[in-house]
Amino acid sequence: MNTETVRLTQLARDHLWMPFTQLNDLVQDNGPRVICRAEGSYLYDTEGRAYLDGVSALEAMVAGHGRKQLLDAAIRQYEQVAFIDLFRYATPSQIELAAKLAEITPGSLSRVFFTPGGAEAVEVAIKVARQYHYLRGDTDRIKVITRQGAYHGTTFGAMAVDGNYHATRNYIFQQETFGRIAPPPRPGCGIDHVREIEALILRENPNTISAIHLDPMNTALWVAIPDDSFLPALRQVCDQYGILLIADEIITGFGRTGRMFACDHTGTIPDIMTLSKGLSSGYFPIGAAVVKGEIADVFTGDAEQMFRHGHTYSGHPVGCAIALENIRLIEAENLADCAAASGKLLLEGLAQLDHHAVFGSVRGKGMLIGLELVLDKLTGATTDPPGAIGKAFRLFCRERGLILLPIHPGNVMLIAPPLNMPRHEIEKMIGIIDGALTDTSAFFNKERITAPER
Ligand SMILES: Cc1ncc(COP(=O)(O)O)c(C=O)c1O
Repeated sequence: MNTETVRLTQLARDHLWMPFTQLNDLVQDNGPRVICRAEGSYLYDTEGRAYLDGVSALEAMVAGHGRKQLLDAAIRQYEQVAFIDLFRYATPSQIELAAKLAEITPGSLSRVFFTPGGAEAVEVAIKVARQYHYLRGDTDRIKVITRQGAYHGTTFGAMAVDGNYHATRNYIFQQETFGRIAPPPRPGCGIDHVREIEALILRENPNTISAIHLDPMNTALWVAIPDDSFLPALRQVCDQYGILLIADEIITGFGRTGRMFACDHTGTIPDIMTLSKGLSSGYFPIGAAVVKGEIADVFTGDAEQMFRHGHTYSGHPVGCAIALENIRLIEAENLADCAAASGKLLLEGLAQLDHHAVFGSVRGKGMLIGLELVLDKLTGATTDPPGAIGKAFRLFCRERGLILLPIHPGNVMLIAPPLNMPRHEIEKMIGIIDGALTDTSAFFNKERITAPER
């Protein structure tokens, strides 16, 4: 390691508290890899090693790294107004982004509440849903339905609609919550899964449910992509029982699944849509809850009707300017179509790797793909805990120059590269995954192979 890497990793071991990272791991191991440069689909660390970014830096960088157009938009806004709160004043960038989101989101989704990030957008959606029912005299509608294993963020409200992903709903924080957990979806599920959710609604009493909150492609739920019957049927159930449908498009939005929004695949119009990540392609922390006009209209009237919510950095002007430019770029470069075409190539290439001992299954939509790792192909049995195989595979990939992310329950790898990743890099990524599957199969067969460094 060069002296700069040694200095930085030592500082990280002493001072940095990284999300969802065991402090022990940081102290015992050599600290994190320190990324000091990024361009296109590549990340570079302080040791000069290059990595393909196979998860768009936590699914955010839909337009890829180093886009000058987005930096220029930031600089223009910094020069005009670096910051003004949105509580009483608005910049053109904030107004125009709200109008643009109203234009591109489906149906009558048209009123935009900005937040600093994803979990805060989830909080807004839940609060809007509850207050909406309250203002209409439906004061008992306080529960929100989620599914086992879902992930929607780690603030208190968002944790309440997590389906215990990473044990977020643990005994310290959430003994009792308003979230109610339905069974997890299965890949390709449809009406059958809607019936499971409906059964929970009936058990809980429909008049106590304010909303169903879900990621339409079930990303955190081992990318269990539903079939096209699922969302429209769920929409019908929501309408039948007066329950709001909140589509969490924080990962799936902005072209990731091959359409601008995952809901667009089936023409489903949710009551509220939550957005972040791809909204600014990761160039600025920003989120939004986009609400149907007719729902927002219930909040007009006297002060009692006001939506009492706001963050100092709700809709930071620079974030809005970047997001606006980012959406222009996504449209101009047809990134949703790119995701559909490249995702197909990637999925087909990965499906060819099923001869590996630890290859379980692969599924996806656009550039949102889940690769399941098993120890027994026939029974689907995996390591105990499932995270053991996910971690080994992640590290073998990293040694070969690819960054991937294991998701719930630990043995499913999320593959979600920038949407404009060129064909030769997709082929390179498939090659690396092929090699890492060989390494992982050998490792778990206890053949002689050394475990990768963390
Ligand atoms: C579907 C979904 N919702 C909400 C969130 C929370 O977003 P943030 O991490 O910006 O708080 C995430 C984060 O990964 C997510 O995947």
